[in-house]
Amino acid sequence: MMSFLDSKPGVPLLESDDLVRHYTVSRGLGRGDAVVKALDGVSFTLETAKTLAVVGESGCGKSTLGRQLTLIEKPSAGALKINGAPVGKLSDADAKLFRRTVQMIFQNPYGSLNPRKKVGQILAEPVLLNMDHLGRKERTERVQETMAKVGLRPEFIGRYPHMFSGGQRQRIAIARALILEPKIIVADEPVSALDVSVQAQVLNLMMDLQDEMNVAYVFISHDLSVVRHIADDVMVMYLGRVAEKGPTEELFKRPLHPYTRALLASAPRIDPAQRIKSEPLTGELPSPINPPSGCTFHKRCPFATEQCAQIRPELRPFDGRSVACHRVEEIS
Ligand SMILES: Nc1ncnc2c1ncn2[C@@H]1O[C@H](COP(=O)(O)OP(=O)(O)O)[C@@H](O)[C@H]1O
Ligand SMILES: [Mg+2]
Repeated sequence: MMSFLDSKPGVPLLESDDLVRHYTVSRGLGRGDAVVKALDGVSFTLETAKTLAVVGESGCGKSTLGRQLTLIEKPSAGALKINGAPVGKLSDADAKLFRRTVQMIFQNPYGSLNPRKKVGQILAEPVLLNMDHLGRKERTERVQETMAKVGLRPEFIGRYPHMFSGGQRQRIAIARALILEPKIIVADEPVSALDVSVQAQVLNLMMDLQDEMNVAYVFISHDLSVVRHIADDVMVMYLGRVAEKGPTEELFKRPLHPYTRALLASAPRIDPAQRIKSEPLTGELPSPINPPSGCTFHKRCPFATEQCAQIRPELRPFDGRSVACHRVEEIS
């Protein structure tokens, strides 16, 4: 029987169509409510076994996007589709299957792993809940196979999370996300809390696992330099919207949006000889409660004109990618 989980020719695995998430917050002291436009119309597609990086400064809406993709929250507007099927219209049973096939990894593995449970229990739990046809022995085998896949020795099965290093704990979190063989993993800053040397190991592991298991990643990072080797495509977000989106190598070689240029000029770990010449980022990210008029980046942009202050630029195709900038033709 065909299911929404089966891929269909010509249809992307995951599609976000103008996804919006607004939060209503109290201003306090009788001043009424305000609306935080955390995610304000984001569209992209993700193909099987590919990696889409989502980058941008802290507060631009990356984690909010992640929560909509994993059904932790319900979007305020827009649609999410898996193999063409609208996720909002799935039956309860199918929504459960969706949650199983879209897993999440968080920045801080210590916070997301129960400190009172042994690794074996942490990894057995999703199997117990979703594959109740497996007996105890098969379950343990599956746990040990998955541990081996992420480079954890099987004899660690009886250890508690605090007995591992930060990098090993992130391997446990990856194992937990992979144990049900998902099609998509949303990884929210998965290496940001790790030492640089350990970051590279975890990134390499994630790439190897992608080849082996055909899993697609939405890889969230505030640091552009981290995603260069892992991502097929990069989506740069600014204040809940997409500034620029395109194939990774081209975007790094010739960033088009002034915000992408500024991010690359500010990135600490990009070789200075290769670093693009642009003004590094100045000023702070404006509040998503009261965003600037026109292009929300205009107050920080060295190329901004009167038009940029007045009219919001739509994302449009330019030179093999999508850019939301009125002046891209002139400045590129
Ligand atoms: N539950 C919430 N209620 C109100 N505002 C929120 C909520 N979650 C996030 N925000 C706001 O939405 C914006 C985007 O947040 P977030 O998605 O966490 O950004 P990022 O992950 O890129 O740092 C921020 O201004 C944040 O304060
Ligand atoms: Mg975040």
